[in-house]
Amino acid sequence: MDPHITEWLNLAIRWVHMIVGIAWIGASFYFVWLENNLNRVNPKTGLSGDLWAIHGGGIYHLEKYKLAPPKMPDNLHWFKWEAYFTWITGVLLLAVVYYLNANIYLIAPGSGLSVGAAIGIGVGSLVSGWVIYTLLCDSPLGKKPMLLGIVLFFCLVGAAYGLSQVFSGRGAYIHVGAIIGTIMVGNVFFIIMPAQRNLVKAIEEGTEPDPALPAKGLLRSRHNNYLTLPVLFIMISNHFPSTYGSEYNWLILACLAVFSILVRHYFNTRHGSQKFAWAVPVAVLGMISLAFVTSNKMPSLSQPDAPVAQQQAPTVDDNASSATSENAQATEPATESSAGEASVFAQVQLVIKERCVECHSATPTSNMFATAPAGVMLDTPEEIQTNAPRIQSQVQTRVMPLGNLTKMTDEERELVVDWVNDGAKI
Ligand code: HEC
Repeated sequence: MDPHITEWLNLAIRWVHMIVGIAWIGASFYFVWLENNLNRVNPKTGLSGDLWAIHGGGIYHLEKYKLAPPKMPDNLHWFKWEAYFTWITGVLLLAVVYYLNANIYLIAPGSGLSVGAAIGIGVGSLVSGWVIYTLLCDSPLGKKPMLLGIVLFFCLVGAAYGLSQVFSGRGAYIHVGAIIGTIMVGNVFFIIMPAQRNLVKAIEEGTEPDPALPAKGLLRSRHNNYLTLPVLFIMISNHFPSTYGSEYNWLILACLAVFSILVRHYFNTRHGSQKFAWAVPVAVLGMISLAFVTSNKMPSLSQPDAPVAQQQAPTVDDNASSATSENAQATEPATESSAGEASVFAQVQLVIKERCVECHSATPTSNMFATAPAGVMLDTPEEIQTNAPRIQSQVQTRVMPLGNLTKMTDEERELVVDWVNDGAKI
């Protein structure tokens, strides 16, 4: 598809996804807050509490019924379309960004996975994620919420690990996010909404509502509550290559999830007691430690078994030898030809020219990009110098070149990173 059209499709869908996502999570945060802040002292008969609030220049008085008002109102507001549209736009976005360009964004460089197989694994992970989740919740484990939570957490970490073996870091992260998002929306669609419908119907007919349904709904909405913060991180994670670009990206994601769940837990419980006040400083310390751990210079380049490195070392019987002469030329280390007398920056510029400029240019020659991706142009020495810190983080974590399409070698990565560390002189 024309890159300009995909860009605008991406823009339109992402914009809507954000808007409905904010509406969904915002309403969900608001109702949790409402529940926690209800004034439950001497409620009027039939009420479990009330709350006064001021917002936007108006004063509001909200009342929560123990079960239902004597007569059901004609106009009862339901909150579900926010959730459904968030999921629909999310899946569309996944398709436009990751499935239409699977080779650059989804498939791990050198994994040899075909586009069809990669998309199959992606879609399959969403479906099986939901099926496994809902089976676990309905199993005897469902009676032990704490144990269930721990098992679910390790299942998700397992999914992150498995996906990180076949997908790019970004691709793996976004699929974990999509699995969680699918579970959350599945909970709304398959469990919470039917439970509410059953309740309303029973009240209208004056019969006893099925007591099992609300209990099930409560467990599922509690899961949704704790999953919110991890999923929000994943949605912005593509800005942070030191997380998804790491060899241990799945572990970093697991740590971030734990920290955010701790913070969520504190906010869920702080109205009753300050018992979990320790959770916030622990999460902050955890984040600071993660920042240190992920700052390792050149984390995986010295690892002989790093999958990317393996693929990059050309072997005699490498299929690549049958590639076009143009490709073969590009695979040759750019540094070799100019090693020796050439200045370090001259070598760096040559590497950038061969590995980056087909995309990152005022006039990209790559047929995948009409304009310089992320606005980063690396045509001139000044542009390269200005972008040095960004170049370093992208090259060091192997996030760039995208999908290693331009076959950058480890030596070239080291050259560029060393040049930045030595002050990025031109
Ligand atoms: C095949 C095309 C392609 C090649 C080759 C490529 N990039 Fe990129 N680059 C992209 C795309 C696409 C993005 C935007 C990524 C996104 O959507 O977040 C990007 C983003 C970037 C960014 C901005 C990241 C940020 O948000 O700070 C930097 C810096 C960068 N690339 C550096 C490089 C360097 C250095 C090379 C060469 C070693 C390189 N790229 C090779 C396509 C490419």
